[in-house]
Amino acid sequence: MADIKGKNVLVTGGAGFIGSHLCDGLLEKGAAKVVCLDNFFLGKMENIEEAMKDDRFVLYRDDARNFGVVQAILEKEQIEVVFNMATIALNYSFFNPFDAYMVNVEIANTLLELLKVGAYKTLIHTSSSEAYGTAQYSPMDENHPTDPTTPYAAGKAAADLMVHSFYKVLNLDISIVRPFNNYGPRQNAVGSLAAIIPATARRIKEGGMPMVEGDGEQTRDFIYVKDTVRGLILAYEKEESRGKIINLGSGKDISINSLLQGICDYYGYTGEWEHRPARTSDVRNLCASSKRAKEILGFEPEIRFDEGIKLTLDWYKEKEF
Ligand SMILES: NC(=O)c1ccc[n+]([C@@H]2O[C@H](COP(=O)([O-])OP(=O)(O)OC[C@H]3O[C@@H](n4cnc5c(N)ncnc54)[C@H](O)[C@@H]3O)[C@@H](O)[C@H]2O)c1
Repeated sequence: MADIKGKNVLVTGGAGFIGSHLCDGLLEKGAAKVVCLDNFFLGKMENIEEAMKDDRFVLYRDDARNFGVVQAILEKEQIEVVFNMATIALNYSFFNPFDAYMVNVEIANTLLELLKVGAYKTLIHTSSSEAYGTAQYSPMDENHPTDPTTPYAAGKAAADLMVHSFYKVLNLDISIVRPFNNYGPRQNAVGSLAAIIPATARRIKEGGMPMVEGDGEQTRDFIYVKDTVRGLILAYEKEESRGKIINLGSGKDISINSLLQGICDYYGYTGEWEHRPARTSDVRNLCASSKRAKEILGFEPEIRFDEGIKLTLDWYKEKEF
């Protein structure tokens, strides 16, 4: 078993939603150094406010696609482990499909080439349940076919294939973690790349109405961000995960209608909902099988959805948008 304690770690996308919680989790677990590399496409300084107070935290504002930049950081900071969290959110696929696809592939390519030449030792690569596309059976285990429905998801699936093939050919120290829908504090609430929970909280707080796309009966498996962080760190520590893809989900799916109703109940909102047409190529259902995570990582989510959503909405209640 590896131990994250005492390690020098690089987190790409470390100023984003999950990445910033991961930086906090790594500092809590005793990493010697946590280096955040983020180009601030969607990352925010406020997400890493706490981490910045820690002497072990180092920030680079740069592009994780850039081989020379990443190589220099790995060398200067003597990095042993990389958690690859950088991406551009799914909705970007609708405006700039090529970039939404390529960013995932190019960052993975840079990290793999540098792993191949021994610039660091271990890559924990983050995939997404979106790589599966709509559930063909449920719960979805890691053998479920991948059938991405957006360029974002295609880029995630392509990066996963590339990462896995490098593992097979070169036997590199790599694990692939495939989270389902994350929620929690710091998720982006504003603009066209906003996630549904914070976007709905913001709309209601600002006197607007919740908005649902399609019939609202599409389902997602929501996992609280701190559970995901625990799973990511376990994927590093439990070396049995090398060469494997591991789902991180709750094993329960919730319809978007029930999710929105829960948010309305929290705010005491009883007004109308705005209905918009379904998004083209929206995934219909996602629900994780967490069997492999339990067997290999000993991982089970600790935060129930009713607890997690309250923690999340309490946080957004205090927040200025
Ligand atoms: N949020 C979810 O529900 C979810 C679900 C499954 C998988 N994931 C995966 O988890 C990871 C983190 O997702 P998130 O929700 O925190 O997204 P996020 O958008 O909040 O964070 C991604 C970060 O990457 C940064 N970034 C983008 N391009 C970059 C580049 N070229 N170089 C450096 N930094 C760059 C952004 O600025 C941002 O801070 C991603 O790999 C995502 O695919 C997320």
